[in-house]
Amino acid sequence: MLHTNLAVNEKGHLTLCGADTVALAKKYGTPLYLLDETRIREKCRTYQRAMKTYFSPESKPLYASKALSFLGVYRLAKDEEMAVDVVSAGELYIALKAGMDPGNIYFHGNAKTVSDIRFAMDAGIGYFVADNEAELCRISEYAVERGMVQHVLLRLTPGIDPHTFDAVNTGKVDSKFGSAIETGQAKAFFMRARALPGISVDGFHCHIGSQIFDEKPFCDAADRMMGFLVMLRDELGYTASVLNLGGGIGVRYVESDPYIDIDHTLQLVGAHLHRICEETDFPMPQILMEPGRSLVADAGVTLYEVQNVKTITGYKSYVSIDGGMTDNPRYALYRSRYTVMLANRARDDADFLCTVAGRCCESGDLIGEDMTLPKPEEGDILAVLVTGAYNYAMASNYNCITKLPIVMIADGADRLAVRRQTYADMISCQL
Ligand SMILES: Cc1ncc(COP(=O)(O)O)c(C=O)c1O
Repeated sequence: MLHTNLAVNEKGHLTLCGADTVALAKKYGTPLYLLDETRIREKCRTYQRAMKTYFSPESKPLYASKALSFLGVYRLAKDEEMAVDVVSAGELYIALKAGMDPGNIYFHGNAKTVSDIRFAMDAGIGYFVADNEAELCRISEYAVERGMVQHVLLRLTPGIDPHTFDAVNTGKVDSKFGSAIETGQAKAFFMRARALPGISVDGFHCHIGSQIFDEKPFCDAADRMMGFLVMLRDELGYTASVLNLGGGIGVRYVESDPYIDIDHTLQLVGAHLHRICEETDFPMPQILMEPGRSLVADAGVTLYEVQNVKTITGYKSYVSIDGGMTDNPRYALYRSRYTVMLANRARDDADFLCTVAGRCCESGDLIGEDMTLPKPEEGDILAVLVTGAYNYAMASNYNCITKLPIVMIADGADRLAVRRQTYADMISCQL
């Protein structure tokens, strides 16, 4: 199986974290998101342990909550003593409602509005990751008005291309995010920040991209970022105490994706950072990382009911399901690859080549092409694996299709964490 939390039981049914997915489809209806809570907790602990051990005792992961944001996941993060990053006042609002300590929250984004900034500062947010000068001036102004000092990290682009999909590739010089080291803009940004009242610049941030399967791009980013830190110390006498290396560790969606050992990867990045610090006589900063996908993706499975199978002779076969791009837009957006199975016939031979299509009035509404399944029949339960990240978070009401519920599974017990959206919910803001 693709991940160790997936198996097939004696009935030939797919199980997630020991729970029979076919029974859950029956109990809660389809389409349905399942989420293995135990898996997410394990991953949080792996990151925390590894970062403390290999980087420094103060180092820690922040959960990049854009990957999956709802009350239950923030409660879980709080329970695991995770800090989180948010990218909007909306995510911040939910994190606060879940009882998270605002001091443990880092606020990202390249276009924070005045009201975002005020909302976050009134809530007592720990850090802003400031993307640009205009925003920094707004933070400074409001900090002065409030008579306080706001901690910030400055987002830089280190000029690293991790060779992943362009839309999730953010560390290159040509990016809407951050200030480039290479062009001198980063140094100018820092000098401006240092001169502003009400601001404490504690360090720097970069995020080079997503779906990265080895340590090399992180080590390259660390080289560039540490080079910048050393330059600031040598030229301006400023020693940064925080370095945030962003998220991006990859996840296996299909058998041909590599397997990545998070602990080992962090060990290699940690050794690299210690070497740089020794060579440059720089005190090891607190290292932050922002895993999103690698914390939650393989905890998720989405279940659908097969509605029909259409074969176009000489062309291909379409298997249409009762969900699609409204609950998982990633194939439409990025051509992301997924593994599919028939959850109720998990032992049958997967010898039927098909395109799995969603129900939207949109030809691009597909879960994937050239997928193999046992030949499906109406009513079969189709499972799409590894859907914990950027699925619920990116869901929409396109075609006025209602959003799916989330069922969380822990210690063999399932519970509804997000209820199915109703038509009334959907029009609740419409006057
Ligand atoms: C600034 C930042 N940090 C962290 C992440 C999380 O990345 P991933 O989910 O690949 O770990 C992202 C993803 O877009 C990001 O933009």
